[in-house]
Amino acid sequence: MTGGAGYIGSNTALQLLDAGYDVVVVDNLSRGHRESVDPARLREVDLLDTEGLVKVMNEAPCEAVIHFAAYIAVGESMKIPEVYFLNNVAGSLSLLTAMVRTGIRKLVFSSTAAVYGMPERVPIVETERYAPVSAYGESKVMVEKLLHWFDQIHGLRSICLRYFNAAGADPAGRTGECHEPETHLIPLLFKAIRTGIPVTLFGDDYPTADGTCIRDYVHVTDLARAHILAVEALAAGAPSAKYNAGTGHGFSVREVLKAVEDVAGRPVPYEIGPRREGDPPLLVADSGRLQTELGWNPQYSSLRAIVETAWRWECRNG
Ligand SMILES: NC(=O)c1ccc[n+]([C@@H]2O[C@H](COP(=O)([O-])OP(=O)(O)OC[C@H]3O[C@@H](n4cnc5c(N)ncnc54)[C@H](O)[C@@H]3O)[C@@H](O)[C@H]2O)c1
Repeated sequence: MTGGAGYIGSNTALQLLDAGYDVVVVDNLSRGHRESVDPARLREVDLLDTEGLVKVMNEAPCEAVIHFAAYIAVGESMKIPEVYFLNNVAGSLSLLTAMVRTGIRKLVFSSTAAVYGMPERVPIVETERYAPVSAYGESKVMVEKLLHWFDQIHGLRSICLRYFNAAGADPAGRTGECHEPETHLIPLLFKAIRTGIPVTLFGDDYPTADGTCIRDYVHVTDLARAHILAVEALAAGAPSAKYNAGTGHGFSVREVLKAVEDVAGRPVPYEIGPRREGDPPLLVADSGRLQTELGWNPQYSSLRAIVETAWRWECRNG
């Protein structure tokens, strides 16, 4: 696994270990946390270091790679796109090169709803065209395209999981969300409670019931499960595929804020700022394919469960 010291990777590693799988984590710790990984499983290697990746793969031969490692902040990608294309695209190309050289030909890739940009139809289906509106989203489109050619030419099969908004924490409290920079709503709402410094909500004049943007929040434990199902499908011979991973239910920024206040028992200080460029009013996934083809059945993705598990993690670690 790459990026296993990060938020979704560390959750998935725990779930894989719980299910009896062996896991080796490749991470350069640029954005992840050393304490999120069992030291015996961590290999501190940069994705761009192809030789280093080949060495890890030769020393610990594996059935499949789950590829989480990337930079993930949309706003940052619009300031330093060269860093995003280097890390996310060239880094993935280096990984694919190492896989071909070592004969590993199954990969699960962390893609994103950002490949769709401002979608024409919602709920979004996988056949919606690519229309990213950020360098981050474009970097993920580019990797999806690389994967197409590595399948055609090298027989490297892949499943791209296009996550919507990952949220929540391990229900057992072992790992949770902690990005630097943090750009995700729920941890930012907690931070506002903790510091008393108002969080800025970007726009309240969207064409939605309460004027704030609606997003599809999927619990990280459910996402982790989707990766295990994807690896198992590839191991059973499934062809390359792309799946949306969301719940099909959207919540507005104000609804999430209210849920956070209910769980925390405290008001969230906030202010309304201008809209962010490229923020669509409504992003909700149609994940029917993931459910019918891979048997995915999200269990933890109610807004209440997401906020409660995240709050327990925040209370312990914030
Ligand atoms: N968090 C979300 O809501 C969300 C939504 C859609 C897609 N994704 C995708 O899911 C993946 C994981 O997201 P996350 O929230 O866990 O992010 P994260 O930042 O918590 O984890 C990413 C990990 O990758 C590592 N990494 C980055 N560049 C590396 C490199 N060159 N070499 C080795 N390691 C490197 C970082 O150190 C970090 O541990 C990313 O690919 C992201 O684009 C996340």
